[in-house]
Amino acid sequence: MKNFLIIMISSSLLTVLVSFGEANANSSDQNTVFTKEVDSIALKVNALLAKMTLEEKIGQMNQYNGFWDVTGPAPAHGDAANKYEHLKKGWVGSMLNVRGVKEVRQVQKIAVEETRLGIPLIIGFDVIHGYKTISPIPLAEAASWDLEAIKLSARVAAEEASASGINWTFAPMVDISRDARWGRVMEGAGEDPYLASLIAKARVEGFQGDDLSLANTIAACAKHFVGYGFAEAGRDYNTVDVGTSTLYNVLLPPFKAAQDAGVRTFMNAFNELNGIPATGSAFLQRDILKGDWNFQGFMVTDWGSINEMITHRYAKDRRNAAEIAINAGADMDMESYAYVNELASLVKDGKVDERLIDDAVKRILRVKFELGLFDDPYKYCNETVEKEVIGSKTIMDAVLDVAKKSIVLLKNENNLLPLKKQGQKIAIIGALANDKTSPLGSWRIAADDGTAVSVLEGMKAYKGNTITYEKGANVVTGETVFPKELTINVTDKSGFASAIAAAKKADVVVMVLGEHGLHSGEGRSRSEIGLPGVQQELLEAIYKANKNIVLVLNNGRPLTIDWAHEHIPAIVEAWQLGTQSGHAIAQVLYGDYNPSGKLPMTFPRNVGQVPIYYNHKSTGRPTLQEPGSVFWSHYSDVSNTPLYPFGYGLSYTSFSYTDLKVNTISNHTVEVSVKLTNTGKVKGKEVVQLYLRDEFASVTRPVKELKGFEMVELNPKESKIVTFKLSEAELGFYDNDGKFNVEPGTFSVFVGGSSDATLTAQFEIP
Ligand code: BGC
Repeated sequence: MKNFLIIMISSSLLTVLVSFGEANANSSDQNTVFTKEVDSIALKVNALLAKMTLEEKIGQMNQYNGFWDVTGPAPAHGDAANKYEHLKKGWVGSMLNVRGVKEVRQVQKIAVEETRLGIPLIIGFDVIHGYKTISPIPLAEAASWDLEAIKLSARVAAEEASASGINWTFAPMVDISRDARWGRVMEGAGEDPYLASLIAKARVEGFQGDDLSLANTIAACAKHFVGYGFAEAGRDYNTVDVGTSTLYNVLLPPFKAAQDAGVRTFMNAFNELNGIPATGSAFLQRDILKGDWNFQGFMVTDWGSINEMITHRYAKDRRNAAEIAINAGADMDMESYAYVNELASLVKDGKVDERLIDDAVKRILRVKFELGLFDDPYKYCNETVEKEVIGSKTIMDAVLDVAKKSIVLLKNENNLLPLKKQGQKIAIIGALANDKTSPLGSWRIAADDGTAVSVLEGMKAYKGNTITYEKGANVVTGETVFPKELTINVTDKSGFASAIAAAKKADVVVMVLGEHGLHSGEGRSRSEIGLPGVQQELLEAIYKANKNIVLVLNNGRPLTIDWAHEHIPAIVEAWQLGTQSGHAIAQVLYGDYNPSGKLPMTFPRNVGQVPIYYNHKSTGRPTLQEPGSVFWSHYSDVSNTPLYPFGYGLSYTSFSYTDLKVNTISNHTVEVSVKLTNTGKVKGKEVVQLYLRDEFASVTRPVKELKGFEMVELNPKESKIVTFKLSEAELGFYDNDGKFNVEPGTFSVFVGGSSDATLTAQFEIP
């Protein structure tokens, strides 16, 4: 207990110390190992800071894009022309999008060998789901609910990226979203804060490993702080307006989980939140993150987001924007050219306190020390390692493993799946089946086009059946070039006839339909979320020829596929699964992997239901009041229920849930157990999910919330008792002042294989 207290005291002292550098780090002989380690870096940071001119300090806070503009408009002003000059003067602290050992070495050499103080650059890159070898899009990985596989996926991504000179990833994106129209849902973990928090932790641990100073670990970045996924109408970059309850209970928890897992950096966001652009919000960055949460790392802005405060109509000009951003707690300027050009004079004019600059610089230098860049700035620059690691078998195996686990079986009538391995005539239809680029999805800047295993290749790796392929129709017209807009207005149906003919001759038709990999991602919002182009018509035309259809979906967001659900006997949600996509899909279709994925996001029946999410509130009129009455919360043309709920997913076997028991351990601790039995014929995995409802509270609570899950693998007829412990963290919630409380009263638990779970029990918290 005594030690515990000492750590608490020392670490809060440290905040002050790190923030203002006034106290002596060795002032107390009570230092624990933890504080000694941190303080030794603080001493080095302070010593270096003391040597720096104001301009050199501001240089550390300046991040430049290397050589090509990947996202966002290229800056209109001519500042980009000064990048090399600034680099040589020591006015650049970080670069992004420089990649490959050769290139990274070049820029690092300028920083280390040509500047006065030789401070190494931190090299950032969007390693979102893999680097060269691509794992499933993050939303797909979230569908695995397999935290170990997700962590491993981040781990191997870090190994590949670090081998290529990168030491900082702008991931994980931990934005919660309830709107499938938003293109960046592909990049997150879905709609639920509990699942997303555990995934945030797994990803941070995967990227950063146990020791940040090793050459194969990289600093992670929790983004976008905060609210970006709640853009109005799902339109990217749009306004965000959310109440305190949603902010604290839904949006912030995954960020807090990333912070608790030791994430070294945060990124702020393009959006405004309740009238204040996130980049200029002291409430978010200073009060919550660096204050309440005691975050010790640094905050990078999103691309050009300091300047965007001007177009938000929040800042008068760039100088004003720079002043707002630094005062609000943004430490590093990504591509606004605002800090490098404006901060020094703002300090000289007394508009910005130099201690804020010192604090930002210390945070940035700290991470560079932690990465070991001062010991060896070229530690990530080893050509031999680069050659050996990229695309290695270990990495390929890890991305295949998580790809299989990410697949969700949505429907399987008459056990059409798994497919027989011998003697079948299989027609594969759909342009996406033969696409080796689209499965890489969005955000895979370093991966080469055409490097994914297509469904066709994956299926052909099994030799026992006769396979024919017909495209049927294109998914998009014209080029698919990042970051250009995709043209979806496909009208050409000339491929239908031969696809229909192939379907007629086949025993089974496998149709691969959905979105191109670049239909989702940044700037890729859609107002209709059905199958793009003429794919729906193709599906209906093939259905007339042969009803034995397995529909394999490739997509970066939930789609509205109500017709398919009505008519098609088997539906497999295969997202965009990355480099090993085709093998993963084939192994599931043939039953070599029994699907175990569960949806991390609700699938609506139509787009008008959006935002639709399982953990909604009750409202005052949740059900029909009197027969025929209209006075309840509903639509006249569609039911309130989704097409597929959060947490839903089938297996080639079946499971039963029985013997739900609740056991009170203490005032604020309850144990819930349930018996899971494999009632089918094959071995399978089930994600046992526990949902909780606080029956009444001082702030209205959701109808249910995920508060525990466990993945269980069982042989046919085998059973297992699964036990969950619910304590304060699960029972409580944040009130409208941001305070976490457990309120006494009645709680209901629901346990089952999706958020529709009906097996229920109640308990009281005194
Ligand atoms: C995105 C960020 C990304 C940054 C750098 C921005 O457009 O919003 O998520 O990390 O670009 O590429």
